[in-house]
Amino acid sequence: MSQDIMTAIAQKKKELKAIILAHYYQLPEIQDTADFVGDSLQLARQAAATDAEVIIFCGVGFMAESAKILNPDKTVILPEIKAGCAMADMADASTLREMKRMHPDAVVVSYVNTSAEVKAESDICCTSANAEQVIRSIPADKKIIFVPDKNLGAYIESQTGRKMILWEGCCPVHDELTAAEIEEQKQMHPGAKVVVHPECPPRVTKIADAVKSTAGILAYVKNTPEEEFIIGTEEGFLYTLQKNCPDKKFYLAKSNFRCPDMKYITLEKLLISLQDKYYQYEVREDIRLKAKLALERMLAIK
Ligand code: 13P
Ligand code: SF4
Repeated sequence: MSQDIMTAIAQKKKELKAIILAHYYQLPEIQDTADFVGDSLQLARQAAATDAEVIIFCGVGFMAESAKILNPDKTVILPEIKAGCAMADMADASTLREMKRMHPDAVVVSYVNTSAEVKAESDICCTSANAEQVIRSIPADKKIIFVPDKNLGAYIESQTGRKMILWEGCCPVHDELTAAEIEEQKQMHPGAKVVVHPECPPRVTKIADAVKSTAGILAYVKNTPEEEFIIGTEEGFLYTLQKNCPDKKFYLAKSNFRCPDMKYITLEKLLISLQDKYYQYEVREDIRLKAKLALERMLAIK
């Protein structure tokens, strides 16, 4: 049955000259169907570079929206309109404008997990993979407003020694992880290295062996000789890790580490979205042009 759907998806994709991009948190069968699987920085780079006419984005809204901002002439489809990001919903453009009025000289750095309107109010975007580089690229005498993830912001402050004005937002999925849950896993797997995403709170990042974006975690587990890892990020990523390192062992830092928005897209929905060309992202042109600048400044940082 799923083989039939995968064949139908492949046919329809060819017909539309489409490319399927998927985030690491997507369901295993979606990852297996995608042309490219990656973290949000890699996906943004793929979206910027593709010559496909249609981009099917298996991820959440802000990712598809960023692809549309970078590719106004292409059709960008998110197979499930409900797939949003709880953290992106915590930041709005009018509050950000108010903050900018209070700190007129500040540089605004927005995490890609934001709406197009918030990106349009920002000087430069970042992802968890390049946030440190982005912050280091800003002259030391400049104030920085960092939107919206206070946990990523606090982690970058700890790495760069740079104080920033942090927005009061977070990822509810990562923010719930506790130090006690990590300690419990460490007791069960004493030799395992603890690797967590920087969206986790400081109480967790402080006790981890490594703090990295999803692509960073993958590179870390591949390149270290250690065999066992406690992973502090969304559960869908364990499939990627196990597929890439079949001889290593991975333990989720807590049970039910799940982003519901990342799980909306199924093979059936993916096929229907290709057939109906739905849901197509559109971004108002004046907002798109400003948001594009912030994204392009980020992509220019290698
Ligand atoms: P990455 O950039 O590490 O893929 O993270 C995106 C995200 O939404 C994590 O919750
Ligand atoms: Fe957003 Fe958190 Fe889900 Fe990532 S895991 S998409 S930050 S809600």
